[in-house]
Amino acid sequence: MSDQTILAIETSCDETGIAVISKSGSDIEVLAANLASQIDIHRETGGVVPEVAAREHTQVLRPLIQKTLKESKIEPEDIDGIAVTVGPGLIPALATGVNAARTLAYAWNKPLIPIHHIEGHVITGLLTQKDQNTFEKTDDLFPSLALIVSGGHTLLIQANDYLDYKVIGSTKDDAAGEVFDKVGRMLELPYPGGPEISKVAQEGDSKAFNFPRPMIDSDDYNFSFSGLKTAVLYALKEMSPEEIKKRQADIAASFEQAVIDSLVAKTIKAATDRQPKQIILAGGVAANKKLRQSLKEKSEELDIPLHTAPLNLCGDNGVMIGMVGLLAEGKGRNKTWHQVDATARLNIEDFSI
Ligand code: KG4
Ligand code: ZN
Repeated sequence: MSDQTILAIETSCDETGIAVISKSGSDIEVLAANLASQIDIHRETGGVVPEVAAREHTQVLRPLIQKTLKESKIEPEDIDGIAVTVGPGLIPALATGVNAARTLAYAWNKPLIPIHHIEGHVITGLLTQKDQNTFEKTDDLFPSLALIVSGGHTLLIQANDYLDYKVIGSTKDDAAGEVFDKVGRMLELPYPGGPEISKVAQEGDSKAFNFPRPMIDSDDYNFSFSGLKTAVLYALKEMSPEEIKKRQADIAASFEQAVIDSLVAKTIKAATDRQPKQIILAGGVAANKKLRQSLKEKSEELDIPLHTAPLNLCGDNGVMIGMVGLLAEGKGRNKTWHQVDATARLNIEDFSI
């Protein structure tokens, strides 16, 4: 018998993630989890249109929650709380999940646990330590330095404990995933550009183009990618459509390398200065093999272990929100249904307990 069971809902962007997850002592069990991706729909417009995303979430939320509950074999009365992503993200999309969670919290008379989307990504890295299924607190966990790279965020976070976050660096303009997606569009690759660029880049020469690495030498832990994006755009303007096609792999590889160099340099700078027990890599862009490899090599040189989120939990999902829900439930984070709203911009530090 578990001590705590959470229903989790994630709708901040273009994935509807639902999970029922429970904990006995430090052991976590995912009882059921489902993910409805909208990628095929957003491919037609080359990116996410918030209202379209919201419409899709609305259509799948109810059946997906019912399916997940049924698969989990958990009755509503056995649920201790409903964890929901309240931000940051696209307001129309977030609002669909928050509304569903509010309705269920009201109907079942359960607490709502507001979750910051990035907390979800951070926890997927903390779980890779020894065993993905435990919150057991070992000496080699904290402080952790987390590089969170997704479509909306590029953050360096120092986690001093579970649910204790300090942001030490962030992007000054575009997020890493966002530039992958934008450059993907410039190269006429399907949405999302990240996985497509890394596939094409495998055949290319990463030194073919000398793209800039803005802020790489700045004396802080911040990132900047918009100058890189503009540099790619200008390079493409100099080329004929045939030449772009011919050199697509070289452009993709050189661009990818520039992003990776910036991400790795700042993470290693922060790790050198702060000597965390481990480095965590998580978020959608953490699925990038070259980034995983490159950060692994550099962290080994520092003798600091790197723990990368499992591939199935790199992109947005409900499980990561449920895991944070298990940790946060009952720790001053419980709200009643009318106290929780979707918010586009939120600071993860405000969610520290
Ligand atoms: O975390 P996530 O699923 O959603 C957000 O919270 O934004 O991240 C999605 C992002 C997209 O920008 C996508 O292009 C990027 O992750 N991505 C990648 C790779 N796989 C996904 N970027 C680079 N290389 C990849 N292999
Ligand atoms: Zn995300």
